[in-house]
Amino acid sequence: MMIQKFNSYEELSKAAADFVFQRIVNGLSEKNKFNLCLPTGSTPEGMYKELLKLFEEKPNLDLTNFHTVNLDEYYPMKRSNPHSYYNFMMNNFWGPLSQTHKTFLIENNAHIPNGETNNPEKEGETYEQVIVNLGGIDLAVLGVGINGHIGFNEPGSDPDSRTRMIELTDETRQANSRFYNSFPEVPTLALTMGIATIMDSREILLLIAGEGKRNVLEELIKNEVKPAIPATLLLYHKQLNIFSSI
Ligand code: GLP
Repeated sequence: MMIQKFNSYEELSKAAADFVFQRIVNGLSEKNKFNLCLPTGSTPEGMYKELLKLFEEKPNLDLTNFHTVNLDEYYPMKRSNPHSYYNFMMNNFWGPLSQTHKTFLIENNAHIPNGETNNPEKEGETYEQVIVNLGGIDLAVLGVGINGHIGFNEPGSDPDSRTRMIELTDETRQANSRFYNSFPEVPTLALTMGIATIMDSREILLLIAGEGKRNVLEELIKNEVKPAIPATLLLYHKQLNIFSSI
């Protein structure tokens, strides 16, 4: 495990973007493909802005074999809903990237669990198959919830879990209610990549920003795995990088 501390959120965002961009460029030149797992939330917003700048500097980079695979989506959730993670990704990354790089086709290269499905169990299996067919995830970028959730894997999630529907804790709904008019409007369910799916990634970059995450950071520094704090399960991963601005 490698923890890097940054003096500000801006520095963290730049460093994360540099790290991710370098991996993408190397992956595309060395094996002609790169599969990147991506998070939503406030934490990665700065990284997306910086990452888009780096892509703009390389307008001829061929992204035909660059795929993004998102961690999670609320359920049920229409793509067109302003609260959907699909919409977040369109605004923060996929949309602008597809403008500067015509080889990045959103319908083909951008993947996210389908919050519109009427068969969430099947959607879990389908999403796992998408990842397998792509050849697995090269790098998973993660944020973390105040209760230590990764993706939407809430405390107590099975380390062997795969993409599935999960019930959100009130704590998570409360934290995410800042994007809604009121707490009852926050969805109670979500589709999330499982812990095992995340752990199968070849490398992980965990981003930690905001005082509310101090408790989680302290637990990670203790270097002990506790299923009640899902982020600590990442400590079992051989290529875990943690970037923190707190
Ligand atoms: C949501 C997402 C997580 C994210 C978390 C933290 O619950 N499902 O993937 O890590 O929020 O978000 P923020 O970065 O806004 O604190």
